[in-house]
Amino acid sequence: MSYARGVLLTALATLTFVTLLITSSSLGAQAGAQAAAQAPRTVQDGVYTAVQASRGQALYAQRCAGCHGQALAGASAPALTGDLFTNKFRMEPLSALFIQIRYAMPPKAEANAQLTSEQAADLVAHVLKSNGFPAGQTDFPAADAANSPIGWPPGRGVGASSAPSPSWYSPTGNLAQLMRGVFFHNSNLIFSIQEAEAKDLPSPPITRPGELTTFDWGLMAYAGWPSVENASTALADASALLMLPGLRCENGRAAPNTEPDWIKFTDGMISVARRSYRLAQTKNKEALSKFTLDLSNACNACHRVYRDVGGRGGAGNTSGRCMHR
Ligand code: HEC
Ligand code: HEC
Repeated sequence: MSYARGVLLTALATLTFVTLLITSSSLGAQAGAQAAAQAPRTVQDGVYTAVQASRGQALYAQRCAGCHGQALAGASAPALTGDLFTNKFRMEPLSALFIQIRYAMPPKAEANAQLTSEQAADLVAHVLKSNGFPAGQTDFPAADAANSPIGWPPGRGVGASSAPSPSWYSPTGNLAQLMRGVFFHNSNLIFSIQEAEAKDLPSPPITRPGELTTFDWGLMAYAGWPSVENASTALADASALLMLPGLRCENGRAAPNTEPDWIKFTDGMISVARRSYRLAQTKNKEALSKFTLDLSNACNACHRVYRDVGGRGGAGNTSGRCMHR
């Protein structure tokens, strides 16, 4: 990465930013004018029909109830009614619920078992009805549902009070996504101090020489010991997310974050990540290299009990995860 290229990319990024600002303010003005004429519709305004919801109900019984429960109250998979559920989805337009059902449910469905957009729209109607939102005169349209601007009523909804409640900030992803997105890369960066000099971290990508993506460039923007410090603080602070109410394993089981040993493993993780931060601050390669063993032990301590038991963790069989060994 040359300095010139960095400057160029930064300049490009700034330009894009400015363009975005310009477009969004003019779009904002248009939207404002429209909003004055017509307030944005919300799920409170009758955005599906009773007939559509009953089609959805029949399909739900066949395709969804086995995991989410007949009454949507949750079984092996999470509940599709209640505060945690609605508070999770109300921060996005209704299109988010459609996308989740249409593209991700049932999990890992074979190509020939995937839902159509019409089926997913019917299921959205059934979920809305089950959450007490009123039916109206027109179906929730399947066409372009992934871009539907229908929203939720303002505010935090059921269970809202003036004091922030933990159910406001339920996680977007599951535990596997948190691990793969944050824990894996940041701990690997720290582990690589065993093989590399800190000044070479993160190593420049060699797969596409001369064709750096913004991601490659970004990796190199914060290099050397500070990158090891950043990875350590990211691990320490992201560990608090292991305690979030509503966090689940990919298999739908709640992360057991009221169990004393889960809390102990989380404390252990925070403590080793902080120690790694301190060692990175001292720039002591040898001490940190040795310490990476403690770091991997902190990951394994939890994995041994909640992830990798009797084949539960591997070979695609993840059904026993998030359950005490
Ligand atoms: C084999 C079991 C299974 C079946 C069948 C299934 N689901 Fe799911 N569903 C899950 C699991 C597990 C999750 C949680 C996955 C995650 O968080 O990544 C989930 C998540 C969801 C979510 C998101 C809930 C949230 O709080 O984030 C919705 C909505 C959903 N499913 C709807 C449906 C619908 C509608 C059907 C029927 C077409 C269906 N599911 C069929 C297992 C299933
Ligand atoms: C408090 C418990 C806990 C700690 C600490 C923890 N993990 Fe995990 N990890 C889990 C559980 C449980 C799963 C299974 C998640 C799922 O299936 O949704 C998991 C899954 C993973 C996965 C995904 C495996 C797959 O299926 O693809 C990776 C990667 C991972 N962990 C890495 C790490 C690393 C690296 C650390 C330490 C820096 C760490 N974890 C610390 C509990 C923990």
